[in-house]
Amino acid sequence: MVSESAAPHFNIEPTSNPTPADHRADLIANPAFGRIFTDHMAVVKYSESRGWHDARITARKPISLDPAASVLHYAQEIFEGMKAYRTGNGSIVTFRPEENAKRFRASAARMAMADLPQEIFIQAVDELVKMDRDWVPEGEGKSLYLRPFMIATEAFLGVKPASEYLFVVIACPVGAYFGSGCVSVWVSEDYTRAAPGGTGAAKCGGNYAASLVAQRDSQSHGCDQVLFLDSREQRFVEEMGGMNVMFLRDDNTLVTPPLTGTILPGITRDAILQLAKDHGLKIEQTPIEIDEVFAGAASGRYREAFACGTAAVITPIGSLRRRQGEAVFGDGKTPGDVSLGLKKTLTEIQSGKTNDVHGWIHSIV
Ligand SMILES: Cc1ncc(COP(=O)(O)O)c(C=O)c1O
Repeated sequence: MVSESAAPHFNIEPTSNPTPADHRADLIANPAFGRIFTDHMAVVKYSESRGWHDARITARKPISLDPAASVLHYAQEIFEGMKAYRTGNGSIVTFRPEENAKRFRASAARMAMADLPQEIFIQAVDELVKMDRDWVPEGEGKSLYLRPFMIATEAFLGVKPASEYLFVVIACPVGAYFGSGCVSVWVSEDYTRAAPGGTGAAKCGGNYAASLVAQRDSQSHGCDQVLFLDSREQRFVEEMGGMNVMFLRDDNTLVTPPLTGTILPGITRDAILQLAKDHGLKIEQTPIEIDEVFAGAASGRYREAFACGTAAVITPIGSLRRRQGEAVFGDGKTPGDVSLGLKKTLTEIQSGKTNDVHGWIHSIV
């Protein structure tokens, strides 16, 4: 594939109708997740003949698509989720953006989509954050959520990889995805999320579409979230609809399922495994039997459980439920000390309160 240049110049086209400052301040004071958007978006086009071209930061507006665009029929769509944080000294940073860029490339490869060079991905995010810097909220748990995504735009109904794509980044100010307590999680025995050789490790929209019925099912059982098991035997823990999962055992070991291609390789997951080592915990990436978790919660061997991801950060799990019963961690309501300690360290790195010893912070302004 051809590329006009590895990192194209972004044309900056400020909106002629920016949100007035006082209205913006109201909007970002208490943002719900994913409902309020900034004034601009980053857009870069791709065609097989021109490569990536026409990079712009422009007013956020609807995208016009031909009704035959491949994304609307065969779901060639991938996305990322990341955040920009306002630090104590007023600078704005992102967390390991090169990891998002790498995962985006891996998702694109799995979905037979155009390869987007890392420099374009990071530049698009940086330029958008610079432009909409006033939308980055201040305060604990608040950030600017960034949603880079790519869609297949070629107008063609044949089933084949498209020859034209659009890469877009939009942004929204967000507060905490979950409250400060514990969540309850339904173990799905009716639906699975991914099979070996499938798309579980790619961040493609189709995975999320397929998970929604299971998420709805979890709510009908009175739970907040769903936990998927492996598709072969329904025996091993995989991950949640939009988060990875970890357990703390009584031998001070943090355990989480291995990356075998059916779960998303979370960037938060990776960071927490490193921070856990720094905290003196042992870590194990190993298949975890769901029956062992239920038995271990009852015996006290499994002391804590939490979900982790960019949106969830670290969200303690109070209980897991399935048809045959419930596994309660601690008293089921109070977040465990280790979960809270890891969350504190991670969020302090992201907000610039703790030394970034691992070099995870990327300064934008
Ligand atoms: C299915 C799934 N698993 C795990 C994660 C966590 O990934 P990350 O920590 O990179 O946000 C996400 C969130 O993006 C997700 O959608």
